[in-house]
Amino acid sequence: MKRKVKLICAFLLLACFIMTGCTNKGDEPKKTIKVGTNAEFPPFEYINEQGEVDGFDMAIMKAIGEEKGYEINIVNMEFKSLAASLKTGALDAVAAGMTVTEERKQTVDFSDSYYIAVQSIVLKKDSEIQSIEDLNGKKIAVQEGTTGDFLVTPEDDNEIITDKNTQVKRFKKGADAIVELKNGGVDAVVIDSSPARSFVAANEKDLKYVDVETSEESYAIAVGKGNKELLDDINEGLAAIKEKGIFDELVNQYINGNDNKVRQTSDNPIMQIIYDCKYVFIDTNGYQLLLEGLGVTIGISFAAVCLGIVLGFIIALMKLTETRKKRKTVLSVIANVYINVLRGTPVMVQLLIMYMIVFRSNMAYLAAILTFGINSGAYVAENIRAGIMAVDQGQMEGGRSLGFTYSQTMRYIILPQAIKNAFPALGNEFITLLKETSIVGYVAIRDLTKAADFIISRTYEAFYPLIAIAIIYFILVWGLTKLLAVVERRMRRSDLR
Ligand code: ARG
Repeated sequence: MKRKVKLICAFLLLACFIMTGCTNKGDEPKKTIKVGTNAEFPPFEYINEQGEVDGFDMAIMKAIGEEKGYEINIVNMEFKSLAASLKTGALDAVAAGMTVTEERKQTVDFSDSYYIAVQSIVLKKDSEIQSIEDLNGKKIAVQEGTTGDFLVTPEDDNEIITDKNTQVKRFKKGADAIVELKNGGVDAVVIDSSPARSFVAANEKDLKYVDVETSEESYAIAVGKGNKELLDDINEGLAAIKEKGIFDELVNQYINGNDNKVRQTSDNPIMQIIYDCKYVFIDTNGYQLLLEGLGVTIGISFAAVCLGIVLGFIIALMKLTETRKKRKTVLSVIANVYINVLRGTPVMVQLLIMYMIVFRSNMAYLAAILTFGINSGAYVAENIRAGIMAVDQGQMEGGRSLGFTYSQTMRYIILPQAIKNAFPALGNEFITLLKETSIVGYVAIRDLTKAADFIISRTYEAFYPLIAIAIIYFILVWGLTKLLAVVERRMRRSDLR
């Protein structure tokens, strides 16, 4: 028994060691800056066909970095969280087509402006709306927390949208607002002119736009309040790339030469479905994103299941010391706390704690595997314990009277039967785990679900990618179910001998 305790302690120590080792990697080599963006804003920032964050803002940040000797580390997050992340120091700069406003100046410092834009109203082709005033009393979709949102929100001091019946639907992504418009959920989308053009270009058959000429605004790069050193470098870098003509080249490459893939259309509904699928999965490389996502989902699930089984066994045995000694033991108390804490909190919260607090936003994959493995361990432990308890008491007595020690009896007589008992419940746990990993997109991992999300952002089509991943998950679970059934049958075969 002593040896086992030592082993467990050694294991826990090792786990702590690995974790602290991982988090310490936070101190990056000098001069790497974390630049936040929200890659839902083409052509300034979007996910390219390789699944990477790309766009005009990224290109100018890299050019500035080259100029001033910075390594640029891009972090993709919600637009609304960008300014706050500068404040907490999670980001050093923000390049996100961010408009300079008096309000934002209270929390961040802005560089020199690098682009002038207006707001645009995106409409269905047959819409009668012609100006911003016409939006009074209508349903409008916007990207949350953007200047488009502020422009149409009917507050006390809004001079244009005065009708209090105007409904504003706020989306995390501009593309989702466009999908809403296409589905008829709103009458218009109000968004910056450049993405409006990109969105309309990709949906030429259904959509059009009108500019709001009076809404001129200028974009700038933001840094944390008082970070003068970085701000000066950015301004100098910006001036230098303008001087050298790099800036104009990038404008031409990203903004003027914005070549959206042309979509084929047809009046025949079947042909239209075929064209749509071709556009969503082939022309815009959706299949590649799905395949990569599939690999990630399988990889994380598999690693987490393995970890969960190992932890589950250890925790179950720790908890069983209580049954054996007929009183609480240190090990059983630890096991109980483990099980209760992990079952008592949502795995989503555990994932965010692991990634943001333990790993300080580094090594998302490891954080996800550990989260799901540790979480699953709690359920596996209970399944295995139930399996062990279901083995007749006489089996232990029989083993012991044959001269086996407690652990020998466990190993050779009880556990083989226990595993058989627990197997259906364990299978259930693996299936649940596979599906639960669909939340890893929250820590910027590109799994299957996130892949569908990307495809929606790029194609403004929700139907095909979502149905596609539903089918893929279903096939995965179905295959796993079959596999588990085969294994179970094999195990039962020995019963019949
Ligand atoms: N210019 C607008 C603003 O500052 C919208 C920017 C949205 N940018 C983005 N990357 N989603 O509010």
